[in-house]
Amino acid sequence: MSEYWSQRFTQEGMIWGSEPSPTALLARDIFRRHQLKSVLVPGAGYGRNTKVFSEEFQTYGIELSQAALEMAVDWDPMSCFIAGSALDYRLDKQVDAVYCYDVLHLFLEEDRRRLIANCLEQLRPGGLLFFTSFSDEDSNFGCGRFLEPGTYEYKEGKFAHFFSEADLREHFAGTEILDTGSQLETLRSPQGATHTYILRTIIARRAL
Ligand SMILES: C[S@@+](CC[C@H](N)C(=O)[O-])C[C@H]1O[C@@H](n2cnc3c(N)ncnc32)[C@H](O)[C@@H]1O
Repeated sequence: MSEYWSQRFTQEGMIWGSEPSPTALLARDIFRRHQLKSVLVPGAGYGRNTKVFSEEFQTYGIELSQAALEMAVDWDPMSCFIAGSALDYRLDKQVDAVYCYDVLHLFLEEDRRRLIANCLEQLRPGGLLFFTSFSDEDSNFGCGRFLEPGTYEYKEGKFAHFFSEADLREHFAGTEILDTGSQLETLRSPQGATHTYILRTIIARRAL
């Protein structure tokens, strides 16, 4: 996985442009309303979304790709970036919130559960989680080689898990789910090309 992303970041730079996802702005507003102070962003990429948080929260980004990390420290010097896998415990203290954009669907079931469990461990009791992921309403759902229920190699050498609402809720069972949603997301490359797809969101609270 690390090699795939490092090659893409090296060749394409800021793959999805410099604008944050609207979901990061939404998460920031929710975290602000709850007067939270610190945010963890697992799979932070080159810092497109961490920058939304680092202006007002103590922000930590965990990222596997060295090429992405090099761009991230330039683009968002206010965040603290940590090299390594988000599947392992990385922080030395718990945070108030986790924002995780389009990383959960990159894993097979065992690692999806490990990512969520690990995020919960690094989140203080009562803290908030905001995750986004691919949806089973996406046109790629069901395309390509079947790997596991809901998971397909939809492009050669690239697989993803496509969540139904019930599946997403089941992954976060054990938390207090505050909201789920489904929305169109448009990504813009630095060259101006656009790609629109459907993503699912979930907002949950770690039990006290
Ligand atoms: C689809 S991109 C999303 C990037 C970022 N969240 C954003 O919104 O710009 C997935 C990111 O997860 C990173 N990644 C994949 N597996 C990882 C892992 N085990 N630990 C940390 N980062 C990982 C990739 O290197 C890539 O930057």
